Amino acid sequence: MKIKLENLKVLFSEDQIQTRIKELATELNKFYKGEEVYAICVLKGAVLFAIDLVKSLDMPLKMEFIKLSSYAGGTTTTGKVNAVDISLPDLNGKNVLIIEDIVDTGLTAKFLLEFIKINFKTKSTKFCSLLDKKITRKVEVEPDYYGFEIDNKFVVGYGLDYEGYFRNLRYIGYAETK
Ligand code: IMP
Repeated sequence: MKIKLENLKVLFSEDQIQTRIKELATELNKFYKGEEVYAICVLKGAVLFAIDLVKSLDMPLKMEFIKLSSYAGGTTTTGKVNAVDISLPDLNGKNVLIIEDIVDTGLTAKFLLEFIKINFKTKSTKFCSLLDKKITRKVEVEPDYYGFEIDNKFVVGYGLDYEGYFRNLRYIGYAETK
């Protein structure tokens, strides 16, 4: 089924998203207590979330961007994570905060956490996802921080796309795909 804007139902409004982001930022500001952080935004989906989140973080912070993909453009994952661009600075001894849009099967999160672990001896590595679809998990991995838990719905908006569209919506919506 093709997802159309007029068929979308609001799952989380702009207000709900922004309120939850402020709460997450409060937790992160408390955890890092002014320590320097490397915030790694996973493109493309996490870009809106990462940008709003870092605006409320008050520690010294550097932003990095990496590009991964596991969806072939539709509503199901290919089951394989492609590292499109994963060039990162030296993260040895650094506090690393990975910022993702959604943890679904968990393959992307696991891949990234293992990639960081194999390549660097970080001071800390934390994973923060706006959404957590715990019910569809295929590998054991949990985000350290997440905004909202959702059930098995394909969601779009606020960075999340369907065939490249809807990333620009200020809210998160869903459409039944069956
Ligand atoms: P995972 O590797 O299966 O956990 O999936 C992670 C990636 O799949 C996310 O970063 C998203 O880009 C994409 N994804 C998973 N679920 C959805 C969804 O409901 N809508 C849009 N993209 C999704």
